[in-house]
Amino acid sequence: MKAFIFDLDGVIVDTARLHYQAWRELAKELGFDFTPEDNERLKGVSRMRSLEILLEIGGIQVDEQEKHRLAEKKNNRYRQLIMKLTPDDMLPGAKEFLEQSRAMGLKLALASASKNTPLILERIGLEDFFDSVVDGNRVSKAKPDPAIFLTAADDLQVLPQQAVVFEDAVAGVQAAHSAGMKAVGIGKPDVLKQADLVVGGLNEIMPQQVIEFFKQKH
Ligand code: BG6
Ligand code: MG
Repeated sequence: MKAFIFDLDGVIVDTARLHYQAWRELAKELGFDFTPEDNERLKGVSRMRSLEILLEIGGIQVDEQEKHRLAEKKNNRYRQLIMKLTPDDMLPGAKEFLEQSRAMGLKLALASASKNTPLILERIGLEDFFDSVVDGNRVSKAKPDPAIFLTAADDLQVLPQQAVVFEDAVAGVQAAHSAGMKAVGIGKPDVLKQADLVVGGLNEIMPQQVIEFFKQKH
């Protein structure tokens, strides 16, 4: 293994609650409630697809123009919320895991569907940390399409089988496997069934253990 590729939302920073807050406010304006369970369905899903799921839940139909207006409205609110992020909003163990990975000489990439990636990285002080950043502004095909991870491997000049992906979304684990990469799931084993290894967070494992785990499997 030569490279680690990290998803951002839900792996490095706790933004799911902010996405939820912004979507919930929009749902409220549209006249329905949006529960935390509903929000689970939006993890790893693109902004437009998230809106479609939200409208489906509310039983609301709108035309394309209105869809774009609503997506923009949600995003403006979400950006207000992420402006308040600080390095303290990184998930437990994330900073340490990244630094230890760096110290081991691994190549490190960030691969997220979010078009807000540059702003989030800046807020948490990681804007210059990664060797490669591939986000929703660069690759439009959403996970489970492997494009985002293949672009990262290409940037890092490693083969897919030399990379491990860290993902909290089912679609992200699928994308990693479609790319020919190993996947460490961050979250619950009953949700991330397809991952090669599942941990609750980056605070529960060390980079060396990840490397050892995949060495033994071969
Ligand atoms: C993913 C999140 O990382 O990015 C999704 O898990 C989100 O919930 C998607 O919808 C797109 O994010 P953004 O910031 O471009 O709206
Ligand atoms: Mg995620």
